[in-house]
Amino acid sequence: MKLPKDKSVIVERHNKVVYDCGDTVVKVFNGNKPAADIMNEALNLARADQAGIDVPELLEVGKVGNTWAIATKKVEGKTLRQLINEDPEVERMADFVELELQIHAHKNPLMNRQKDKYARMINSLGDIISEATQYELLVRLDGMPNHNKICHGDFVPSNIIVREDGTMSVCDWAHATQGNGGADCATTYLHLMLGGEKEIAEKYLRTYCERQGCEMSYIQNWMSIVAAAELARGRVVEQDYLLSMIDVVDYY
Ligand SMILES: Nc1ncnc2c1ncn2[C@@H]1O[C@H](COP(=O)(O)OP(=O)(O)O)[C@@H](O)[C@H]1O
Ligand SMILES: [Mg+2]
Repeated sequence: MKLPKDKSVIVERHNKVVYDCGDTVVKVFNGNKPAADIMNEALNLARADQAGIDVPELLEVGKVGNTWAIATKKVEGKTLRQLINEDPEVERMADFVELELQIHAHKNPLMNRQKDKYARMINSLGDIISEATQYELLVRLDGMPNHNKICHGDFVPSNIIVREDGTMSVCDWAHATQGNGGADCATTYLHLMLGGEKEIAEKYLRTYCERQGCEMSYIQNWMSIVAAAELARGRVVEQDYLLSMIDVVDYY
């Protein structure tokens, strides 16, 4: 894959750079990202598309120099994050939650299973939490209701592109699974809290529960599990908060 000369950086992170290349957006990962992770992200995107969700069209998976990259067709618009920052007073929560529930209304039997993924992540935490806590979390996970809804896994405003006409496309499917929508809700809540948006996070949680018709305690039950899964991503700055969310205590 060749990047055009005329391009701009949308975002640069420690492990990737995302470029606006005019008609396309190219996500270029750094060298040590396993090929399997890139294929998994592209496959999730393709599967979400196949299930009928509004997502950017997958154009190409290939190498830019020595490193892997995913090219998608650019969706013209602004991210929900940009819109919120530009005008925080505008009410957007209902649309945000509605879009998430619309995603959950879709199925794809080939997507990775959420419980398998969480179990793997909890099992990888041996250096951070005690064996007893790991066990407790795995038992709790096992007891959660089995669903097979498509869950985005990182449903946050920066992953939603709002077109001029108000329709929305959802990008960044690296963490998608099929499973329980409540886990997705708990993940969004955690991300909003970690981003310092406590008020928005609380409002989001209330709105989700109202629209979905579930008790807040149902989402709370997922919180320690998704906090452990986030912990497994290894972002050190978030460790203390995430450990505090793993309320089965007994960590060291
Ligand atoms: N196909 C696309 N069309 C328009 N913008 C996109 C597209 N893909 C990604 N973006 C923009 O690039 C940003 C980063 O891409 P994303 O896939 O979310 O990467 P990351 O994993 O770093 O969050 C998004 O927040 C969005 O602003
Ligand atoms: Mg993103």
